[in-house]
Amino acid sequence: MPSLCQAGFCRPPSERLHETSSEERSTDGEVDSVVVCRVEELRMEKQLPGAGMSSFDLIHVQILFERLCLAKGSTFVDLGCGRGEYAIEAALRIGEKGIAYAIDLWEDGLVVLATEAEFRDLPQLRVVAADICSTLPVDGASIDVCFAAVVFHDLVQEGCAESMLEEAHRILKPHGRLAILEFKKFDGHPGPPISVKLSPDQVEQIVAPHGFARNEVTEVGPYNYLITFESVFHAAAND
Ligand SMILES: C[S@@+](CC[C@H](N)C(=O)[O-])C[C@H]1O[C@@H](n2cnc3c(N)ncnc32)[C@H](O)[C@@H]1O
Repeated sequence: MPSLCQAGFCRPPSERLHETSSEERSTDGEVDSVVVCRVEELRMEKQLPGAGMSSFDLIHVQILFERLCLAKGSTFVDLGCGRGEYAIEAALRIGEKGIAYAIDLWEDGLVVLATEAEFRDLPQLRVVAADICSTLPVDGASIDVCFAAVVFHDLVQEGCAESMLEEAHRILKPHGRLAILEFKKFDGHPGPPISVKLSPDQVEQIVAPHGFARNEVTEVGPYNYLITFESVFHAAAND
């Protein structure tokens, strides 16, 4: 069995998320594998200050989830989940036969989310500590919906949006959907400066070359829109 740390799964505060290196042992004392937990290091490297702003309270959740079309048993990934409100909502909708991965590098948020998932008895919610611009501990062609709320513009700034898109394409099923929630491009709060905010057309320009066809743009609140894409054949991904 892969160790939790190896798989990138977040563990409770009493355990070893802080560690940068450790050995995992099976119950009979054998060393299963040498494990390197680099969550905190990665977060520091990327200078992530913490969750930043949650968009959940700014948007019409019902409209958003109608557009995401999650059915019972669907598989869902929340990239840069922050406090994980979307992942919890998705987990409730997909039920125990589905899987909702909540992925972030923000350690404190993940610990709270993992505790809440346990408290609310949501075994379908998998809390994962990982860099969303690197290879994710998620099987290829296994996901119905990849979702990223108000984090895509950050990845563009960091210069790693392309890596995230390649990985999203890998884990999505053929015709799976990528849904990106962003701030409308206007001057002022909430959200980043207008120069950092992305219009739907700007998002499409970045996303489409990675094997995605634009579907629709939906207003999901006064400050935010959702743009959805379908995963289509991508020659580079199949080389
Ligand atoms: C502005 S918050 C949005 C949180 C959540 N999506 C929401 O809308 O409520 C951005 C989140 O993305 C995470 N994040 C940014 N870059 C990341 C990366 N490369 N890997 C994992 N998480 C990242 C941050 O830690 C933070 O929790």
